[in-house]
Amino acid sequence: MKCAAIVLAVHVLSVTAGLNLTIGSVASYCAIRYMNFNSSLGSNFTEAYDPSIINLVDNSGFVYYQDLAILAAIQTINSDPSILPNITVTLKRFSDCGPYDPNAASDYAGFSAGYAAAITASDVTEIHTDVIGVIGDQYSTATRGVAQILSNAQIPYCSSAAGSPRFSNKAIYPYLWRTFAVSYAKQCVLILRYWGVKRIGIVYQSDNELGRANLVTLTNDLIDNGITVTTTIGLTSAFDEKAAVFACKSINRTDTRYIVNLGLDSFVTNVLYSLGTLGCVRENNVWMAISFPRVDPDSLPKLNDYLRGLVVFRGSFNEIMPSFVQEMDSITQTHLPKEYLYFNSYPTSYDCAMMMLLGFDKLLKSNPSFSSEMLSTRKLQNLMNFTLFQHLNYNGMTADDITLDSFGNLAAPSEYLTLLGENLTTRLFATSDLSASTINFYNTSLPIFRDGSARAPPDGPTFDYSKPSSTVQRIVVMTAAVTGMSLTVFCSLLILFHNTSKVVRAASIPETLTLLVGCCLSYCGLLLYMDSPAKQICHARVAVLIVSFGLTVSPVVFKSLFLIDIFASGKAYKNRAMLRKTQLKYRFTNCMFILFEVAIALVWFLKSHADTKAVLDATLGLNYHVCNARSNANPALVVGVYTFNLALCAALVYSSVRQRSIESSAHNDSTTMIILMITLALGFTLIEGINALESDGWTDFKVAMCIFIFTSAIVIGVLLPTILDLYQESLSARRYAAFDKNALRSQSREVSRTSERELSFQLSSSPHARKTSFTTEMSGRTCSYKYQLLQHTTEFVTWRLTNSVQCCNAWRLGVASVHSINSQKVWFSIATFRKTVCIPLPDNDSWMEARFGKLKFPRPKSQLGLEIEFADNVEAAAFLEELKKFTKLCYNRKHEMKEIESTLKGVSFRHEIKLS
Ligand SMILES: *[C@@H]1O[C@H](CO)[C@@H](O)[C@H](O)[C@H]1NC(C)=O
Ligand SMILES: *[C@@H]1O[C@H](CO)[C@@H](O)[C@H](O)[C@H]1NC(C)=O
Ligand SMILES: *[C@@H]1O[C@H](CO)[C@@H](O)[C@H](O)[C@H]1NC(C)=O
Ligand SMILES: *[C@@H]1O[C@H](CO)[C@@H](O)[C@H](O)[C@H]1NC(C)=O
Ligand SMILES: *[C@@H]1O[C@H](CO)[C@@H](O)[C@H](O)[C@H]1NC(C)=O
Ligand SMILES: *[C@@H]1O[C@H](CO)[C@@H](O)[C@H](O)[C@H]1NC(C)=O
Ligand SMILES: *[C@@H]1O[C@H](CO)[C@@H](O)[C@H](O)[C@H]1NC(C)=O
Repeated sequence: MKCAAIVLAVHVLSVTAGLNLTIGSVASYCAIRYMNFNSSLGSNFTEAYDPSIINLVDNSGFVYYQDLAILAAIQTINSDPSILPNITVTLKRFSDCGPYDPNAASDYAGFSAGYAAAITASDVTEIHTDVIGVIGDQYSTATRGVAQILSNAQIPYCSSAAGSPRFSNKAIYPYLWRTFAVSYAKQCVLILRYWGVKRIGIVYQSDNELGRANLVTLTNDLIDNGITVTTTIGLTSAFDEKAAVFACKSINRTDTRYIVNLGLDSFVTNVLYSLGTLGCVRENNVWMAISFPRVDPDSLPKLNDYLRGLVVFRGSFNEIMPSFVQEMDSITQTHLPKEYLYFNSYPTSYDCAMMMLLGFDKLLKSNPSFSSEMLSTRKLQNLMNFTLFQHLNYNGMTADDITLDSFGNLAAPSEYLTLLGENLTTRLFATSDLSASTINFYNTSLPIFRDGSARAPPDGPTFDYSKPSSTVQRIVVMTAAVTGMSLTVFCSLLILFHNTSKVVRAASIPETLTLLVGCCLSYCGLLLYMDSPAKQICHARVAVLIVSFGLTVSPVVFKSLFLIDIFASGKAYKNRAMLRKTQLKYRFTNCMFILFEVAIALVWFLKSHADTKAVLDATLGLNYHVCNARSNANPALVVGVYTFNLALCAALVYSSVRQRSIESSAHNDSTTMIILMITLALGFTLIEGINALESDGWTDFKVAMCIFIFTSAIVIGVLLPTILDLYQESLSARRYAAFDKNALRSQSREVSRTSERELSFQLSSSPHARKTSFTTEMSGRTCSYKYQLLQHTTEFVTWRLTNSVQCCNAWRLGVASVHSINSQKVWFSIATFRKTVCIPLPDNDSWMEARFGKLKFPRPKSQLGLEIEFADNVEAAAFLEELKKFTKLCYNRKHEMKEIESTLKGVSFRHEIKLS
């Protein structure tokens, strides 16, 4: 109440002060019913909202809103005693299209330029000389003439709707300024460059200033930025079906995917509707417009669909102030839906009026000799060019601290919006800086385009399969794959070569190898990430991961389950056969499991619906395909794969928990399993995360690197303990061997000195000289050395050295003999022309057994063993008998000799015999 009283008092005061200051509003008042006109001056404007007069979605609503905004600004200034004190601001309305015309509301698109320039402008300048400033809610075409005449007459003109670049020319329009950012071309090129678009088409309104002027600026900017214009289609405002078909055909023929629509709001709407019905608004198309479409949400249900994904840009807007909505409600005497406020240049009109009046106020206060009378009677017009309004410290509707640039346009960041196709609701997805030279913010996760994607679709038909992955990426992926595969092969060989090692056996060879095969496959799969994929490659990527997963996890799980079975359940088998049987059972199940996994992967490969998607790479400016992780794969298949593999993961967790109960440290690999689990969980999350983002040129590379890192983590995590143990083992073996050699060297010197002659014997001696023995003095001790050539069964034996993989050593012929020292150290020796190989024989001969006509001499402490081949088992048995005859003798003697200490303890002997 108090406020109202003050406002009233101020009103009364200013009225009594008696000074009126008039501003004009030039708009299409011909669309408003019941208005009366004397020449272009209108009266009987109905301020309260009346649906029989105003239709919010056509021209009448457009004019109405802006008039209301000006009224609100005048009300604000009049009620503020500090601004233009003792002055009442009044408004005169001028029609730029003549008297009321019932069709103007729906049809008029800003064309009465002749009328506006000839009648409206002269009305303002010559007849209504009390008007000292004009706010124009006109489109560019109508603005052209009026604004130029007003500029000549030094009447400031603020435009809230004329978007043509033409008006930035301050030599022609020094008194014109605009309360919105005018840089359509710059804004358009900026976002195109951000997306990496290289080809676009232009549809422009050929009979309209906004369309034509922007065509010129945009074309220049596009050329400067290396963007090709595939087609330029000029359409008149009232284009017909024929023209629309021509336009659509032209777009089809040039395979244009990005089309910029340069025209007024009604033109934008009509073009999208007509070309939409002709099939030119497609899922892979991106339509852009410099004006917001104007549409009655109820009239054209199909139009809403064609508008979906339309990208619109404009200067940024502030949120509409609540106080403003209140003011509005008080004028309209109702509450109008907020979204209509946004789609008319209502905030710009408000700011126009505010800035104009604040500018006048500033001018009055700038010099004490300026009086209100001078101002209201056009005595100060020469000081009112646009620079007066450049910096007013005014926080406006469109921006805070509104500033005009040197072209008289609002300096504001650009906003990029996409239409959702629902009642003109929009979504802001990007903003630029003040000069529209860089994108400050871009929401990469919002669906922006028609296909519901956040990723810009390709800008043309050509797909390049090889270029997208840059050379560096390809080399890195290739290197990773080769390194990984080498790593797994190396680990496999290491394990195979040490298959006798306790450490390796504890890690269980078949399971470890299976795991390594899985990892190797995973590394191989990296090669699928080197290029832009075809559909099959996308399927193969997943299939390979599924198989690798199965191969990697299932052996660990089943081995662990086996161990739990035999240890934890207290059934630690004493019976070897039983143990083997159980183990086989688990291994068999594991094999079945893996086969099933392979089958699933195969089904995935053949039946998955997942497809590739063409995308545009912003940095490379290339169109290519990416795997579309989001494309609807066969749901049953997805569920199947997930269920099966999640079950495997559950088994992994279960068995790792149960494993803790196993006491044997050699068999407890719960640590390994935890590493495996963490790695898998991290890897899965990360890869899913990367895939969930919109793919770019780095996505495949990132996924490949993830796979590489996590596979390597598994290989290393699982095998490193084994390898370290193995290394420890080999270190101790080497120490042992070194000790042996030293002992041997120090003693063999003495041996060679004392008994060189005796030790050398003739192999060519008679085969009948079967038994030789001699005794010699060594280090002051008696040493009895005996040997026997084993030539009874066969004169020469066929033999070879053996390593753990049973390969790669040549078979040779040699003479076998058996030796003993003091009947205690017994060794077997085979001599060829080149060298002699000796193998110490264990204390008992129970190990000796001929199998498949072969006799094997294992050498537990070094890698190489010895294998002798016979014609058949009988011959082998005979040879063994011959050998045993000698060793038995030794063993018998051994008991007698027990008291004699041998200095050659533990020597595994190897000597060279020169053959004559
Ligand atoms: C100012 O305008 C008001 C109404 O708008 C009017 O009543 C008054 O006479 C005007 N004063 C002058 C000096 O024109
Ligand atoms: C129309 O305006 C002119 C100029 O202001 C004025 O002389 C004339 O009387 C007006 N006519 C009517 C009908 O109001
Ligand atoms: C003025 O407008 C009202 C509707 O708001 C209408 O009823 C009235 O007839 C109009 N007056 C004239 C003189 O046209
Ligand atoms: C406004 O008018 C009143 C009364 O006419 C006068 O006293 C006052 O000084 C004026 N204020 C300004 C700022 O001119
Ligand atoms: C343009 O191409 C689309 C899809 O390829 C097709 O549906 C439409 O009929 C074509 N329109 C014309 C006018 O050629
Ligand atoms: C605008 O007016 C200022 C002084 O008020 C003057 O310095 C400037 O040159 C004018 N600019 C134009 C483009 O007329
Ligand atoms: C659009 O607006 C109409 C009424 O204005 C409403 O009935 C409809 O539900 C709206 N549609 C959507 C998708 O919001």
